[in-house]
Amino acid sequence: MINTVDKLLCNGILNKEELIALLECNDTQTNGYLRECAVKKRLEIYSNHVYIRGLIEISNICKNDCYYCGIRKSNKNCSRYRLKKEDILSCCKSGYNLGFRTFVLQGGEDGYYTDEVLCDIISSIKSEYPDCAVTLSLGERTKDSYKKLYDSGADRYLLRHETANADHYSKLHPAELTLRNRMDCLKNLKEIGFQTGCGFMVGSPYQTIENIAEDLLFIAEFKPQMVGVGPFIPHTDTPFKNEPAGDADLTCKILSIIRLMLPNVLLPATTALGSVEKDGREKGILYGANVVMPNLSPENVRDKYMLYNNKLSSGAEAAESLNLLKESMKKIGYETVVSRGDYKINN
Ligand code: 5AD
Repeated sequence: MINTVDKLLCNGILNKEELIALLECNDTQTNGYLRECAVKKRLEIYSNHVYIRGLIEISNICKNDCYYCGIRKSNKNCSRYRLKKEDILSCCKSGYNLGFRTFVLQGGEDGYYTDEVLCDIISSIKSEYPDCAVTLSLGERTKDSYKKLYDSGADRYLLRHETANADHYSKLHPAELTLRNRMDCLKNLKEIGFQTGCGFMVGSPYQTIENIAEDLLFIAEFKPQMVGVGPFIPHTDTPFKNEPAGDADLTCKILSIIRLMLPNVLLPATTALGSVEKDGREKGILYGANVVMPNLSPENVRDKYMLYNNKLSSGAEAAESLNLLKESMKKIGYETVVSRGDYKINN
């Protein structure tokens, strides 16, 4: 299997059978070599720098009913909130003072955020903090809407594809949500000029190893600037409450494979990874990730943005404790930096 890793290292791609074999491989030597290659690539391109993003969870109101998600429309036990422009700007202010140069506005698909409302928020952030990047993670919208958001100054957009297999997609989402539309949105975002991010959950219900190989092949072909991959974690108030959580080791192995497929990719060690395993986020970095996204939401809403149970929101996960995060990264030989942390094009 060492040969397969070398092939991935040289060509940046494997075929489906090879990916499946690598994903299923339990050989410690092979897996160790995969990790080493991924870390080496990451150091070549991004040095030991870890980019930080201030995550502002702007609303947990959502019109969708995704079976895995804790803020799905049907969850009556979810106490709903939405942040107004002033709240968001005040998060940016404290974030800026802490050293954040990217703000990620993430939320459910909440009709309150019309193009007009969002463009006003985005242009205000950009005029107050011209040296900062604005990333949006607000779900599916029309191409026209994405274009308006881009023209008002947004730089990046995260929209996980969730699974590249249409049949699997239909087992995770109600019928009105389709893989076709999700893929169209991703294509539109990229065409408009956004630095675009896709991604998926590891261990989501009904997911097979073959599905993961399909996700990886899609990522290799789509060539996003960012990829978000974290373990699935069940939420009590969803149809998937009794399903097991995804595996942290498999998640880390997938991070390494993605680093070798797309050496320049911006790859977060996700909150979900930190939530399934102690020091999971550090582990993600040690497998090739180069981004962390501490929580910059107002403290009184943090426990309400519960996508899954036991989601971390305190300690080094909280933006105001950036020093803890810095320390934990330093301990493993990495350095958090104050910069927009853009995608590196040439290397
Ligand atoms: N476990 C892990 N990740 C989840 N997400 C939503 N629900 C869960 C869950 N139960 C992820 C989805 C979504 C992102 C914002 O959070 O992949 O795209």
